[in-house]
Amino acid sequence: MELLHRGKIREVYADGDDVILVASDAVSVYDVILPTPIPGKGKILTQFSAWWFDQLADVAPNHVISVTDVPAEWSGRAIRCQRLGMLPVECIARGYLAGLGPDSYRATGSISGVQLPPGLAEGSRLPEPIFTPSTKATIGHDEFMTAAVAGQLGQETAAELERITLEVYRRGAELAAERGVIIADTKLEFGRPIGGGPLVLADELLTSDSSRFWAAEDWQPGRPQRYLDKQFVRDWSSTLTDWDRTPPGPPIPANIVEATQARYAEVYERITGSRWRED
Ligand SMILES: Nc1ncnc2c1ncn2[C@@H]1O[C@H](COP(=O)(O)OP(=O)(O)O)[C@@H](O)[C@H]1O
Ligand SMILES: [Mg+2]
Repeated sequence: MELLHRGKIREVYADGDDVILVASDAVSVYDVILPTPIPGKGKILTQFSAWWFDQLADVAPNHVISVTDVPAEWSGRAIRCQRLGMLPVECIARGYLAGLGPDSYRATGSISGVQLPPGLAEGSRLPEPIFTPSTKATIGHDEFMTAAVAGQLGQETAAELERITLEVYRRGAELAAERGVIIADTKLEFGRPIGGGPLVLADELLTSDSSRFWAAEDWQPGRPQRYLDKQFVRDWSSTLTDWDRTPPGPPIPANIVEATQARYAEVYERITGSRWRED
């Protein structure tokens, strides 16, 4: 099969009109791939993503064709998908103040140009979920990015991206909340069929690579939360005084690998209600 794209975490192969997305066990922090894999990560996030696409299938068309009809060597870690022309936008929905949000909020009272009420703390729930897309051109700038997206893709597409992104977030966050997990924010990607057509939800969905997950029972605004995602690896890496966040990344110690594995499994099990077992 033809390799179309080698991403940081996943490879994309063409198979006729389909693509096969294959997830590795690699983990990246600050966009740098670390040399130590997290065993089982590719499988668990693939299965988690597939589960979400199934749960939220009525919200918007999605790219999944089959989780089982994939080459045997990639079994469990690959999804057969409709091949799409991807839109150059990261569609981010935020329900809580997290990540780079608190810094921006303290400085300007807003995130990505979306004005927020005063009095919020790190980890606070926002009055309502907001859409803060970023395009390749606007990454890192604090401007009203919805306008930039509309400028690039047209008003109609921008509005549709916002509507679907917020609906996916609301539905996903509601379901996760019933199971003791807060989804603080998430990133979606969309494409259109080659040759044109309606928007299709693509890439991965509500995984620990694309989302911030917090344990609901420990949630308390005003301090960092107990997270169930790769923030654990980020925090460990930020204690390293001799790494400047450029490649090559540092090897991950065994105890951090184990703790990270445990978090991926915990969030999968809590939300899906199934035990994680790797065959
Ligand atoms: N249905 C699809 N058709 C074509 N490309 C896709 C589809 N779904 C996701 N992609 C692309 O596959 C890649 C997934 O690999 P990833 O490791 O996330 O790469 P990146 O480092 O570019 O984010 C992304 O570039 C994503 O845009
Ligand atoms: Mg990606």
